[in-house]
Amino acid sequence: MTLVLGIESSCDETAAALVRLGPGAAREIVAQRIASQDDAHRPYGGVVPEIAARAHVERVTPLVEATLADAGLGLADVDAIAATAGPGLIGGVMVGLVTAKALAMAGDKPLIAINHLEGHALSPRLADPALAFPYLLLLASGGHCQLLRVDGVGRYTRLATTIDDALGEAFDKTAKILGLGYPGGPAVERLATTGNPKAVPLPRPLLGSADPNFSFAGLKSAVLRAKQAGSHADADIAAAFQQAAIDCVIDRSRRALAAAGAVSALVVAGGVAANQAIRAALESLAAEAALRFVAPPLALCTDNAAMIAWAGLERLTSGDFAPASLDLAARPRWPLDPDAAPVRGAGVKA
Ligand code: KG4
Ligand code: ZN
Repeated sequence: MTLVLGIESSCDETAAALVRLGPGAAREIVAQRIASQDDAHRPYGGVVPEIAARAHVERVTPLVEATLADAGLGLADVDAIAATAGPGLIGGVMVGLVTAKALAMAGDKPLIAINHLEGHALSPRLADPALAFPYLLLLASGGHCQLLRVDGVGRYTRLATTIDDALGEAFDKTAKILGLGYPGGPAVERLATTGNPKAVPLPRPLLGSADPNFSFAGLKSAVLRAKQAGSHADADIAAAFQQAAIDCVIDRSRRALAAAGAVSALVVAGGVAANQAIRAALESLAAEAALRFVAPPLALCTDNAAMIAWAGLERLTSGDFAPASLDLAARPRWPLDPDAAPVRGAGVKA
């Protein structure tokens, strides 16, 4: 039995979790706590890095203590401590990483530095022990939109990324344009269920293109123009936006499936994977390709520490594990596939 404490603080959730790998590869989230900062950032319509970093400082230690207490365990019971070391808002990442270093030193435990994106990429295996490498992963969050072939722990081939906005960012901007507040993804999804997606013509950037990547900036601008025109119901705009986004996601994913070679499943992870309409469309695509479709439960899609603890467990048990040094620096940018060619377009995130 191996027990890992995970800490996540790369954006606007402070989170701690204890995940155990038991006999027969049984996985168990023993305890987890998430302190969302949504209320602190809502007045600004997005995450304010300085507010986020301060909130992480206030919350992280009590949160770790409460998580251990929930499980009736102490630091001595933990085999290793895993923390997000990037990419993300650097102030927040530093808070979680420094806390993990202090705990590792105080408890004489190995420190595992986790790439937040690897946390998302491996999270489907925490919920589904049958999910085997390699799989094709759509990783869609507030900062990223990538298609990756996942061959193993630390073995990622990026087949596509966004040349401008991330998909979650497009949802958040659409929410802002429609006055739905922050965070926007769930609000847009809710409103879209009451609208007519055909009532507002919107573009589908790069649909059918030989370029494998995503682009959402043009779609976002078209949403703004549709709203400014004043002649469409907000629900119709939300529905049309979501349908255009889904059409792009499916077209790009179909293309990546053709390029990926043999895979065991089509998998979606990251905050946007919480979207039921996107999940349903991907499930149909998987069926069309005679592949399994795997999506983690909603609580594992948006940022959480269970996925960080799980990535730590995967690393710890992968065979080639070396504990991170205590002077390891936080990384604001940290691509999963460092060999991937840079994409054209401006403003590309990590
Ligand atoms: O993975 P995540 O929690 O944080 C990042 O690492 O970015 O993803 C947050 C993103 C936000 O952009 C949020 O609007 C989006 O995921 N999101 C959704 C939904 N729930 C969260 N987007 C569409 N539909 C949803 N139901
Ligand atoms: Zn994330």
